[in-house]
Amino acid sequence: MSFLLDKCTLKVFNNSLLDFCLPFDCGNDDLNEFFAKDIINYSAQLLGKSYCFTLDDDPRIIICAFTISNDSIKTINLPNGRKKKLTKVIPRDKQMRSYPAVLIGRLGVNKFYRKDLVGNQRVAYQLMDFIKSWFVDEKNKTGCRFIVVDAYNESYVINYYEKNGFLMLFGSETQEKEYYELDAHDLLSTRLMYFDLILLQSTSKLSEN
Ligand SMILES: CC(C)(COP(=O)(O)OP(=O)(O)OC[C@H]1O[C@@H](n2cnc3c(N)ncnc32)[C@H](O)[C@@H]1OP(=O)(O)O)[C@@H](O)C(=O)NCCC(=O)NCCS
Repeated sequence: MSFLLDKCTLKVFNNSLLDFCLPFDCGNDDLNEFFAKDIINYSAQLLGKSYCFTLDDDPRIIICAFTISNDSIKTINLPNGRKKKLTKVIPRDKQMRSYPAVLIGRLGVNKFYRKDLVGNQRVAYQLMDFIKSWFVDEKNKTGCRFIVVDAYNESYVINYYEKNGFLMLFGSETQEKEYYELDAHDLLSTRLMYFDLILLQSTSKLSEN
């Protein structure tokens, strides 16, 4: 049983939802502010689409929210080792310079609903499974090979994405700093991570056969 799919409803995060719902608190001030204010302009400018799950028992409560946008992984910018790691699993005569992806721009779970005791599965994990399923669904209108995220460089956030099968795009912080042209002493506030959606497609193809 999935708390998110069985007890909540997916909605587009828009102005009327903001007016109707209680303030969303995921425990991160920047994200809270984004979901309270910036989100409307962001959508209006076609920079990202935002969605949330509200609780069926009280639809004023937002359980979790996320923003997604089109993106790509440009292998031309990657160090050779990373480029090989990424492309060796994509059989093609000619390597592409860029691979289609979707970016999770923002993601947060209501801090009072982090753990779903009913199914003993965390809401955040159910949310990630849900997002992944959208892009391997055959109704998805465009090709999308990867999910990418600029994850906050905090151990609990990196841990969350790693547990959901995401890998670091760069092998080390040093490589990533070079990519962003940062000084070696600068702090890296985020880490680029990716999930290869082909992993899900092969599982579903296998179970079909
Ligand atoms: C990232 C997130 C979705 C992960 O959800 P989750 O895997 O269910 O993780 P939890 O929130 O239960 O937290 C996991 C651990 O990190 C800790 N943690 C959570 N938020 C924290 C914070 N702001 N600072 C430090 N530790 C934190 C929790 O105490 C927990 O530790 P425990 O397992 O020992 O209890 C969720 O923490 C969240 O919504 N965070 C705020 C928004 C955010 O950071 N989004 C990521 C954007 S890239």
